[in-house]
Amino acid sequence: MKDSLEEYKKILWNKFQNSQSPRAESRYRHSLGVLKKALEIKKTFSLPVDEHKLMVAALLHDYAKFTTWEEYVQIIKENHLDKQLLETSPKIWHSILGGYVVKKELGIDDPEILDAIRDHTLGGSNMSLLSEIIFLADYTDETREGEYFREAKALSKVDFHQAIACKIHQRMLKEPQFVTEELKTMYQKYRED
Ligand SMILES: [Fe+2]
Ligand SMILES: [Fe+2]
Repeated sequence: MKDSLEEYKKILWNKFQNSQSPRAESRYRHSLGVLKKALEIKKTFSLPVDEHKLMVAALLHDYAKFTTWEEYVQIIKENHLDKQLLETSPKIWHSILGGYVVKKELGIDDPEILDAIRDHTLGGSNMSLLSEIIFLADYTDETREGEYFREAKALSKVDFHQAIACKIHQRMLKEPQFVTEELKTMYQKYRED
């Protein structure tokens, strides 16, 4: 892993620009927003996580956003993963396969960082503290605007676990296709904590 966050910023910027996507710039701004928000959450709740790892995970959580279908197929082959992953919604590939892309292209092999990337959209039943921060920061950074994010953003300043529960709940309502027993259990866990 590189020591310099600035280098990762350059790498991310170039990666997004090369995608030629009209969303490249806003996605980059969101990545910086998540970085800022992750640090804010760590500070607000005095969370004992490695700051450099947190920053790298936050900055790179959407690194695979513009990865192509062919590249994902290749990633699945190389890592002997289940091809059925490609039958899930394309929206979540950058999350569940993102860690593999980051590992392959940037050589980052820290399991906590890779897990946090994997879990940033849907969460996971055994998230580390670092994963939890990224999960919440992804939903409450300054680029998440409007009424829809108001509650989660407000909670993210006062109650770490209720804020996480809020994201899970809203996603369950918005995207029922992703609701699993695991997700329901996860929701209860954060609600009751
Ligand atoms: Fe994402
Ligand atoms: Fe994101």
